[in-house]
This record gives sequence, structure tokens and C-alpha cells, in this order.
Amino acid sequence: MKTVNLLTNILFFLFPFSLSFGQSITIPIETENVAAVLKTDEDNRLKIIYFGKSLSNTNEYELTGEAFNFQSDGASSNNSAYAVAGIDNNYIEPAISVVHVDGNNSLDLLYESHTTARTNDGAILTTVTLKDPVYPFFVDLYYKAWKDKDVIEQWSVIRHTEKGNVVLNKYASANLYLNNKDYYLISYNGSWAKEMQPVETYLRQGMHTIESRLGTRANLLTSPNFMLTLDGKTTETSGTVMMGQIAWNGNFSLQFETDIYKNLHIVAGINPYQSAYHLGPNTPFETPRFIYTLSFEGKGKGSRNLQGWLRDHTLLDGQGDRLTLLNNWEATYFDFDQDKLVGLFGGAKELGVDMFLLDDGWFANKYPRSGDTAGLGDWEVNRKKLPDGVPFLIHEAEKEGVKFGIWIEPEMVNPKSELYEKHPDWVIKEEKRPEIYFRNQLVLDLANPEVQDFVFEVVDDLFIENPTLAFMKWDCNAPIFNGHSRYLERKKIPQSHLFVAYSKGLQSVLERIRAKYPTVPMMLCSGGGGRSDYNLLKYFTEFWLSDNTDPLERVFMQWNYSYYYPAIAMCNHVTDWSKDKSLKYRIDVASMGKLGFDIRANELSEQDMRFAQQTVLNYNDFKEIIWHGEMYRLANPYENDLASLMYVNEQKTEGVMFNYLTNWRYLAETSLRPILLQGLDKGKTYRLTEINLYDGASTPVDHQKVYSGEYLMNVGFNPSVNSNRTSVVIKIESVE
Ligand code: DGJ
Repeated sequence: MKTVNLLTNILFFLFPFSLSFGQSITIPIETENVAAVLKTDEDNRLKIIYFGKSLSNTNEYELTGEAFNFQSDGASSNNSAYAVAGIDNNYIEPAISVVHVDGNNSLDLLYESHTTARTNDGAILTTVTLKDPVYPFFVDLYYKAWKDKDVIEQWSVIRHTEKGNVVLNKYASANLYLNNKDYYLISYNGSWAKEMQPVETYLRQGMHTIESRLGTRANLLTSPNFMLTLDGKTTETSGTVMMGQIAWNGNFSLQFETDIYKNLHIVAGINPYQSAYHLGPNTPFETPRFIYTLSFEGKGKGSRNLQGWLRDHTLLDGQGDRLTLLNNWEATYFDFDQDKLVGLFGGAKELGVDMFLLDDGWFANKYPRSGDTAGLGDWEVNRKKLPDGVPFLIHEAEKEGVKFGIWIEPEMVNPKSELYEKHPDWVIKEEKRPEIYFRNQLVLDLANPEVQDFVFEVVDDLFIENPTLAFMKWDCNAPIFNGHSRYLERKKIPQSHLFVAYSKGLQSVLERIRAKYPTVPMMLCSGGGGRSDYNLLKYFTEFWLSDNTDPLERVFMQWNYSYYYPAIAMCNHVTDWSKDKSLKYRIDVASMGKLGFDIRANELSEQDMRFAQQTVLNYNDFKEIIWHGEMYRLANPYENDLASLMYVNEQKTEGVMFNYLTNWRYLAETSLRPILLQGLDKGKTYRLTEINLYDGASTPVDHQKVYSGEYLMNVGFNPSVNSNRTSVVIKIESVE
């Protein structure tokens, strides 16, 4: 068999290639440090022959498969680039499973052609077309490689020209095959106020699935993020680790199947649960992106890859600024009126934050939104609470020099609402069964274009009425239960399209909003942290991690989120959730992201207000480093009695280090040893100064002393955390 080498000099042009009989083709997908290598076999099926470190001699990629010897029954198909169901040489979990128009439920996919090109946004995109030898059925596999970030996005487009609908019973974005032998998977459990709880599983045999079936707030019980330690222990600075996410704002599935050789087959995509998709001819179906990085230098590098990629290429305005804010949710809940709100604006001004955010409870008249049981869906201002409307509030806030933002939850409806009375057919519910509520509400049917228009108009009307509205918090509290769409029924579209149609309907509304309002910052919130997928973050500038704002819990939660998200995207608010922790501890923790307050600022003592003002000034001073610098996790609170993290600017001239006591035991070991800093320039000299000191508190940190970067990264620095110094913030500056 002849081998064709396509490996070099192809990256800058569109490079189309198709196969003539008897040739084998090697297609490397490469970043700076990572390579996934695809190769056709003797039957022209596409295989993954290598997933690991990139090679400098690209000619050697075609040999990589030869180093392994997994030849017996089954194994030869386990490494399919896109595993199929229904042909006899495949025993592994399929990425795709279909029923053709004639009722045949087998699929075979052979290599047909591929192209490689540089995209406008600077990535290298490889597209491989596979085709069934019997049916006019195609799958295009996409691999978008970001060289300097070591991030790869993988997805598929499924299409056919059969004479009728092909039923897709499974239609994953991607599959991969790893030959590493030992896999520790970290995935994340959760529920309200307990989001992002890590669980480690040693994968040895069979299938391990991470999935969501909630429809809307898909990540409430399980995050779409995962981390795989390959071949032994991984630390922040050592070991091989794969980290990523299936980027879908709907039901997702991540499957990890370990075979007889201890190889790992990963299938990622939309969860096929209740979602058979009837695909018409010439209507390509694009699947969501499976996004991952592989780091050979531990989790720290892996997360900086993902954070940088998200900031530069996905998150809306990832390079821009953010607004600090005062939110009234925990300060008032539903109990407010115009005077009370105006009274809070002064507090925002005094604190020195940029904006006041009006939360839930400002709307609905027939069924006023004075609790969570009524009014959702009726987006006119409540005239009793706010007689002069939103424009007046904005005017009053602006008089104080404070911008104004507003909360909405436009995908939802309370049964006790005018919207529900007028449009019962806009609501997702199984009419033959009792309605099931989550926080007393139901989900609107975003499969229906009329509902999409309605949701768009909720946003549009607010901006038309209030052109200086500076911010929106977009909430989403209920999952889909008893999913049935009257719209799909009318259109004779199978109900099994609902979950996908909902997710796509939401995206199309957000596309319209961003076409008209491209830059207004919006927070993605979902009854806490039920939504944080990279797909929706294209439309949002930030997200709400959890309603749990206890700062000790937050140290752990923010730690876990930080593996996958940059600090600029993470909204952290200072609240009274846990008053046993000092105001200082609460503000310091909230400063590691996008700082906000959710307190009755006007009731702070003079001393507390003075301190809070100082911390906001300090935050303004270092926020650029937090938002756009590199983050390093230094001491893990799961392994130590304290947590320590730092952020450094690109030039390595400025940084800020945060340290927290996480164990209040007398025997806690929090200051025995120094903490090794990271990310500094070993040749530079640095001064360390403690900031955010409460009301003249003294510090053991001598800011007259200077240290080399080499010293700080090898010997370390002791922030002297103890039960009297539970939270310590250190400013790091290079000195000439
Ligand atoms: C849930 C959110 O997570 C909270 O921050 C708040 O906005 C409430 N909803 C309002 O109902």
C-alpha cells in the first residue's frame, strides 16, 4: 500500500485532498504541543492513531500508530475517528447511529476527502468528509486547532441526500481515542448552592457517562467540564492532563469508555436522551463543539490554555472591561419600592462601584411579582412599586454617577401570570399530565418562532425605553419537565426535536440581541450556576457561579471553576450569606473575579464602609491583572489548610496574591512553610506589600524588603495566614 504524506507546508492554503484507491492518508491535527493524528486504514476507514505530544518531524506522524499493537478482535475499530453503529466490525460506543429512509439501521463511513485552511480568526481548520459507501449519507468532521493555546475544537456536520428523513438516534460532536492506560477523571457534581463539586473516578472498565437531561439550566446537577489525568499524578505544574468541555446549552453527554487494552474512547455531544432527530435531505445538522486542551506541564498550564482561549476567542468582550456593581437581590429580595431603591443608589456611589443592578421583582401588575409565585412573563414595570418606571430609576442612579442594570428571566413563566392566560400554547408542558413546577414556574417554548420574538422583545423593549441601560442579568430557574411543544405538534415535527429546538431557539434569540446590541454587558445566571457553557458565553460577558456566596465555600468553588474559566468571566459578590466571616475575607474572595456587592451598603458601619471603599479602590488598581493576566493556583485548599492563588500581568511586572485560611482547627498548618510563587520573571526584583488591611491593622509583611523572582519561585514567601489573619492579599510589584 502506498502512503501519501500530507504533513507539511499545507497550513496556509486551502488544501483539498481526496483519495485514490490503495493510498493511505495521514492527517495530523496539531497545536504547539499537542497532536491528534488521523489515518485511513486498508479499508479506507478513518482512525485516530495518536493523541499526545506534537513532533517536530511531522513526517513521523504517519508512523505513530505502528508503535502500538492493539490488533485483536474489536480493537481494530475501537480507534475510529467517528465510530458508527450497525456494521459488524464496530463494538465500541458509537458517535453516530441512524435509521435510513428505507428502514436500514446500519452505517459505514469511509474517508472521502479533506481540506486544511487557516481561518480568519487565526486557527487551523481541518475538515474531513466521510461517506457511507451504500447510502448518500455524509459526515464532515471538523478540527479547529489553536496553536499557541494548545486548544482543539472538534465537531461534526451530518448531511444526506436520501429521499426522505433519516432518523439520527445519536449524533455526537466528536470521539477520541487515548492510549495512555491510566485515567483519573475529575467531573463535577452539583445542585443549587452546591455547584461544581469535584469527584474523582478511576476509569478501568466499561462506560462512565457524564450527562444532563435538564434541557434549560443544563449544568445544574453536572457540569459539562471534565479533567482527565493521564498516566499518574498531576499537579499544578507537572503531569499530563486533558481538560475541556462539551459546549452545548442543552442536554449534553460525555462518555468515557475503557476497553480491554485500557485505552480510552471518548464520545462527546448532544445527549441523545429523548432526542431522535429526523434529518431531511440537504439540511446539514451542525453539532456543538467539543473543546479541550492537553497539557504536559500540569493543570496550571491546562487551565491557562483554556482561560486564554476563552478570553481571546469565545467570551463576549473577553479583552474588554467589566462593571463593578451593587446588586439588591440579597439586600431586599422582593421587598422594595422606588424610594427604597433610590436610597440604595447612594450606597453604590459611596462604595465606589460602577453600577447598581436591580434584581427580580420590578415587574407585573395584574399578578404582581412580589414573590416567586406570580408575575413571571409580564414584563411591564409594577406601577405600585415603581410609579415612575425604570427610566426614573436610571435617571436617579445616573445623578449619583452610577450606571444602572436590570434583571430579566425571559424564558420562563409563572402559571399565575397574564402571559400564561393569554398564551397557554407558548408553554412547554404535557397537557395530558399534571403541570410540574420548579420554583413555581414553567419554561416557554423557544422552538416556537413567536416565542423567540417575544423573548427578543423583552430585551429590545427595555433598551428602546432605556437607551442608557448599562447591563442585564439573564436568569433561568426552571428545567424542562414533561417536555411537549404545541408548536412542534402543529407543525407535525416530532416531539423528540424539542430539546435541540429549544437550545437552538435560544441561540437564535441571542444572535438577534447581539446583532442589535453587540456590546452591552450581560450576566449569564441560572438560578445560581446552572449555566456556564462555552456556547452561551459567546453572547455573555460573565456568569454567576452560584447563589452560594459563603466566602469559605466560594474559595473552593471558585478554585474549581478557575480550571475552565478566566476570572474576568466569574461574577463574585460580597453578601451577608455568611456573616461569621469577616467583611475583609468576603471582599478578598470576591475580588478574585468580577467584584460585586449584594449587601445593604447604607447599613454598613463607618469603619466597614471605609474599609470597603479602600478595597474597591485597590480592586480598581489591580483588576486589569485579574481580568487579563495569567492565573496560578499555588496552594490547594483540598490538600492544605489554606488556599493561595496569584495573578500576574503579561509583562511579569505586577501581580496580586490571595491567601485564605480554610481550616479553623488549632492544629491547622497554615504558616509553617512558605508558598512558592509562580509566573514571575526570575531575573526581576519584586516588592511585596500587604493590601486590603482592615482599619489600620498591622502586618508582618515588610514592604521595604525586595526579593528576586527566582527566590520567590524557589524559596517562596510566607503570607503568615493564621486565625488572626484569615485572609491576606499581597500586591507584587517589580522594582528597578
Ligand atoms: C436566582 C439567581 O441566582 C439570584 O441571583 C436572583 O437573581 C434570583 N434568581 C432572583 O429571583
